[in-house]
Amino acid sequence: MKYILSFETSCDDTSVAILDENGNVVKNIISSQFSAHKPYGGVVPEIASREHLKNIVPLFEGIIEETEVDLKDICAVGSTRGPGLLGSVLVGFSFAKSLAYSLQVPYYGINHIEAHLYSPWIEKRDLPFPALVLVVSGGHSHIFLVKDFKNYYLVSATRDDAAGEAFDKVGKKLKIPYPQGPKVDKLARKGNPDKFHFPLPRMKKGRDFSFSGLKTAFLYRLKENNFSIDNFDEDNLPDWVYDILASFEKAVVKHLTNRVESATKRFNPESIAISGGVAANTLLREKIREIADKFNLSLSIPSSVYCTDNAAMVGFLTYLKWKGGLPSELNSDAFATAQWEKIGEVEGK
Ligand code: KG4
Ligand code: ZN
Repeated sequence: MKYILSFETSCDDTSVAILDENGNVVKNIISSQFSAHKPYGGVVPEIASREHLKNIVPLFEGIIEETEVDLKDICAVGSTRGPGLLGSVLVGFSFAKSLAYSLQVPYYGINHIEAHLYSPWIEKRDLPFPALVLVVSGGHSHIFLVKDFKNYYLVSATRDDAAGEAFDKVGKKLKIPYPQGPKVDKLARKGNPDKFHFPLPRMKKGRDFSFSGLKTAFLYRLKENNFSIDNFDEDNLPDWVYDILASFEKAVVKHLTNRVESATKRFNPESIAISGGVAANTLLREKIREIADKFNLSLSIPSSVYCTDNAAMVGFLTYLKWKGGLPSELNSDAFATAQWEKIGEVEGK
């Protein structure tokens, strides 16, 4: 058996994975930098790069030891080459390239968002095409129409903040410690989502996302009601905290699912899927399931570990490229931001 080795270091998680030659995940290890960034309330880019430098060798040695995979059996190495914090990307990128070079196997540079995009197939390989995939993370909110394992087109993008960023920013206003998104999800479960009104963004073209207005509305609701929090004490929170988070979450999820629903009507896909860190959100998972049921579509909602940043998704895309016989990308460069082909530019729909 041959194996694929992959690395993910685009933001604040150092992750290493091994997949077998059929694209099955053998092991996926994630080392969170949670405690290093916690005192600052968010990710500090320089600390992130230094943490990756500290973690990458022990993680690599650990996965080889645990899986007992012989380095002679590694057939390809992949790593994220962007988008992300460039200093962080470069750690995994340089390490993976050097490793591929020394093992004399092909290297594949992986687009982080594309890795999120194809992660719904890791656990559900028979998810039919064309698929509509909502990729929602801390830095990105996109809908893609995916034709196959090579071709996909951008349908919607955000004009300002990403959905995860919106959850993080409103969480921060309530002094919720980093990482705010999962905590907002947990607290919202106890609140009344109809208590506060958040107007949904309305744009002329109606395909893109916008979260900055919702974020501002959140600040207004706090101000109007004289709500504030000195210290975040999870065991002693007033009811309004649960209610305002539940109402905000409802609006964000409604905005996301409205766009998914109209894209479903427009493109008539065989399946829908979600991925990226925000795809771990309880309400979003529930509402996407409802859309799949309504339109009678196949659905893939990955396990949470494959939603948030992980090297297995990087390995899966490396596997697809390696299996497709694509040449090594040892000379490729890293990048901080990504460009996409928009559906309107490619197809006349
Ligand atoms: O994909 P990811 O791990 O990293 C990026 O590529 O950005 O996504 C992280 C984002 C953060 O904004 C985090 O707050 C959000 O995903 N997130 C959540 C949940 N879990 C993670 N947002 C809402 N509900 C969650 N359960
Ligand atoms: Zn990500």
